Amino acid sequence: MTQLSTSDLPAVAGLVDHGTNDHGYGVFGLGSFTFERDEYFATVRWPSGHHRISADDFLRAIQRDIAWEFFYGTVNFDGVLGTVNHYGRVDVCAGRFSKEHQAAGMAHTETFPTEVVAEAFLTIADDWTNEGFDPFVAPRETGSAFGRKNGSNPEALRRRRVTAERMVGAPGDEPLRTDDNGHPVNAAFSDVPQDEPVVRAEAGFADELVAFNLFAYLSRSPVTFNPSVVSACRDSLACPTTEEYILPIIHGNDRVEWFIQLSDEMVWEIEDGATGAKRATVVMKAGDVSAMPADIRHQGYSPKRSMLLVWENASTQLPDLIASGTLPSHPDVWSAR
Ligand code: PHB
Ligand code: FE
Repeated sequence: MTQLSTSDLPAVAGLVDHGTNDHGYGVFGLGSFTFERDEYFATVRWPSGHHRISADDFLRAIQRDIAWEFFYGTVNFDGVLGTVNHYGRVDVCAGRFSKEHQAAGMAHTETFPTEVVAEAFLTIADDWTNEGFDPFVAPRETGSAFGRKNGSNPEALRRRRVTAERMVGAPGDEPLRTDDNGHPVNAAFSDVPQDEPVVRAEAGFADELVAFNLFAYLSRSPVTFNPSVVSACRDSLACPTTEEYILPIIHGNDRVEWFIQLSDEMVWEIEDGATGAKRATVVMKAGDVSAMPADIRHQGYSPKRSMLLVWENASTQLPDLIASGTLPSHPDVWSAR
């Protein structure tokens, strides 16, 4: 087994390849972090500590972090490891949101240019994902992440979120909704009607007025926990997603997010964003709407494949306005003014 001492690695800007370990997996360094996996676990080491995550959980989390370009705010892989997005720079953190790690002097954060972390994480995910394991799909739909290094799955890892310029169905934002172009209805949504709305536009407005069946569209999503932008109105982004099993990250918001549960049921565990202290459990049934405050972190559970609309305000000014107290972190405070 390869043994690494992190303390004597040089501080470097990009990923350092430390070769292959006895399990066949690459060992990598990023700054003073090292990343290693074996047949069951990913182990991350930093000068004052180390942490172990089940390899499947690690790969599902790092895959979302890469695909979402570090998302809004904090992407916690679990209660210890994660990234914080500064939109151009990214913090890679260990124990940052854990009082116990802080008290023990084991918390550690290093900041890198976004593209450095993006490239590093993609290299790690590529090397550590075996043939047959797809970190984007529901557990029942994929092979195993475990065992010795066995092939790779670059097609699965390079999926990007689908984003509409204006709205799915508008010219240029063609809906992907037929079996013919490789988007069959997921078995869990075989009861979702596939009929499309009829649009009768006045002459000359055929390109301006569009409509599509969002349920039918989502029933064909092959991935889980991967919100896609289906309509954009300035900073207002409608990002529906299909959910099954557990959100692979614990998302620490830097702005208010709205959820509309479109079908079935999800449970959200809500914790304090800075400490992880439990705050609430939110049960959302079809039709329920919730606003997730800017100072929390949350993880969703979907026992059966469900449809969720995440409504995001993508304004680049929001994190500073909220962090400085200029804007409240709760929408109810806003409405009470
Ligand atoms: C969120 O953190 O708000 C989030 C992320 C991915 C999802 C749903 C919600 O699929
Ligand atoms: Fe979130």
